[in-house]
Amino acid sequence: MVKAIVLYNSRSGNTKRIATKIAEGLEVECRDKRNIPDLLDYDLVVVGSWVIMGRISFGGARYLKKLHRKNIAGKKIALFFTSGGPDEIHPMTENKISKTIKEIMFESMEKIVNKKQNVTILPERFYCTGAIRMFGKTKHNIENPTDEELEQAKAFGVQLKELLEA
Ligand SMILES: Cc1cc2nc3c(=O)[nH]c(=O)nc-3n(C[C@H](O)[C@H](O)[C@H](O)COP(=O)(O)O)c2cc1C
Repeated sequence: MVKAIVLYNSRSGNTKRIATKIAEGLEVECRDKRNIPDLLDYDLVVVGSWVIMGRISFGGARYLKKLHRKNIAGKKIALFFTSGGPDEIHPMTENKISKTIKEIMFESMEKIVNKKQNVTILPERFYCTGAIRMFGKTKHNIENPTDEELEQAKAFGVQLKELLEA
């Protein structure tokens, strides 16, 4: 059996839904940031978060930092996130560093998780859009993640499982 776990933080549920599907593909459990176990026994830790104002949410950054106190050293790490917009150069960063949301997010998540350079960040990673939900309603009535994106998330979990079992 694969010794893996999927962790996430999620304000309005998009990242949670993706995390749940990745865990389904991996056939492992999924936990939110308030309920992270000691990670000593795991080979793979899949960590997810979401975007606010063109960067990782504060709660996301905080829980990723906390992983250092949970015996994350030596583990394989796979990253994922959801964000409202397409993967374009973010208007706030344009002309300054010209990075897309994907570059900004994966770079900053990697930097926080791999602070002591003691984990292996896998090149396999997952991203999809998540509708912006305010007071339970979605902007323009667009529902993301779509069923297709949820299936892609599950396939990502299966891919990670096969990688670990190879
Ligand atoms: C206050 C706020 C600010 C946001 N800022 C951005 C942003 O700058 N860029 C972006 O792509 N998405 C942005 N989003 C969209 C969220 O990243 C997206 O809806 C995400 O899927 C939310 O994840 P959750 O449902 O797991 O909380 C923002 C959402 C909120 C509520």
